[in-house]
Amino acid sequence: MMTKQQPVGSGFGPRSTADDVLAGIDLSGTNALVTGGYSGLGLETARALARAGAHVVVPARRPALARDALRGVPGAEVHALDLADLESVRAFAERFLETGRPLHLLINGAGVMACPETRVGPGWEAHFAINHLGHFALVQRLRPAFAPGARVVAVASSGHFLSDIRWDDPHFRTGYDRWLAYAQSKTANALFAVHLDRLGADGGPRAFAVHPGSILTPLQRHVPRAEWLAHGWVTPDGAPADGFKTPRQGAATAVWAATSPLLAGHGGAYCQDCDVAGPAVTDDMLVGGVKPWAVDPEAAARLWELSSDLTGLDAF
Ligand SMILES: NC(=O)c1ccc[n+]([C@@H]2O[C@H](COP(=O)([O-])OP(=O)(O)OC[C@H]3O[C@@H](n4cnc5c(N)ncnc54)[C@H](OP(=O)(O)O)[C@@H]3O)[C@@H](O)[C@H]2O)c1
Repeated sequence: MMTKQQPVGSGFGPRSTADDVLAGIDLSGTNALVTGGYSGLGLETARALARAGAHVVVPARRPALARDALRGVPGAEVHALDLADLESVRAFAERFLETGRPLHLLINGAGVMACPETRVGPGWEAHFAINHLGHFALVQRLRPAFAPGARVVAVASSGHFLSDIRWDDPHFRTGYDRWLAYAQSKTANALFAVHLDRLGADGGPRAFAVHPGSILTPLQRHVPRAEWLAHGWVTPDGAPADGFKTPRQGAATAVWAATSPLLAGHGGAYCQDCDVAGPAVTDDMLVGGVKPWAVDPEAAARLWELSSDLTGLDAF
């Protein structure tokens, strides 16, 4: 079912920046939580939301580094959170709930890509655990904080083109492949938004998934430099390849999905280039669009149940 995947004619595009999409939008009085908000796209997202008046909270795996990165962002708060550790997610969420503050915007931007095989928690594959299960647990734990009209944005990727959920082996007990592991986790991010939105449509948070574009950031840290040219990420002189965005452009779609008045009453859609994406019509990730397995409501419900079983959390 792809009916939600219809562009809304936002007037923005691939070159729009986070500031462009926020022009004329006043976020004073808004509390925004940005995971990964101290590096790459998340940092630009946090900066732009703060410039528009939001109070920004950044949960960080490395709080000292985060405080440094966010120096100069008025009011930005940093608290410890490791998405690979459900106990850390619980502790962070409890601290947030204790403040009694309503949560208006949650951008699930933290992520890892193409890591060597890594196991976390009870032996979970790290991409699935950090990129998906950690954020699943965070949203479950934060449920009481969501304000009416709250939005959750899952930062997914056109990387989802490469893999559906591996239902028979989501933790890669066999055949580990770092790109398929990333791809599966990004399909999970997209499906998470579909089902969260279904559960939230009646008074709870609305949810969107976004592909931010291709942007050189520390995300590529696990990919040897020698491979960057082969992947077409850089020109021979090391500059970003054609079609790559700046971090400010890369932050724009998540910020647009979190704040655009055009999306009032909408949800459960996958977005790219500051609009709702259409169905993918090619296998070219640079062209983008969304593959059917990443917006399938039945798969989304199944993944929710699997995630709930794995984490022991079912607050919705
Ligand atoms: N850049 C692209 O071209 C691109 C394309 C498509 C999708 N995306 C998605 O965009 C999102 C942001 O990527 P980016 O390019 O901005 O990458 P980035 O600069 O590497 O930022 C990722 C952030 O996630 C944090 N993080 C990683 N593991 C964590 C953990 N266990 N707990 C808490 N935080 C953790 C990192 O913190 P540490 O530094 O402390 O690890 C960092 O702050 C990711 O979800 C990525 O999949 C990016």
